[in-house]
Amino acid sequence: MTERLRVHVDPDKCQGHARCKALAPELFELDEYGNAHEAGDGIVPPGLEDKAWLAKSNCPEIAIDVIEE
Ligand code: F3S
Repeated sequence: MTERLRVHVDPDKCQGHARCKALAPELFELDEYGNAHEAGDGIVPPGLEDKAWLAKSNCPEIAIDVIEE
């Protein structure tokens, strides 16, 4: 069975580059300052796992964690 993934944005590290939102709009939301947080509870719906890893690897601030549960 495939492990479930969850994304988490570290608000102390995020500087609002918004690459996560561009690459995985289903998984991230931006606040009024342009900083990201995970959509909902951060659970990655089936089929979006690649986008989660892509967002993590493209964040210049290394603010995104992908947690395997
Ligand atoms: Fe923030 Fe990184 Fe996204 S800096 S807005 S988590 S690309």
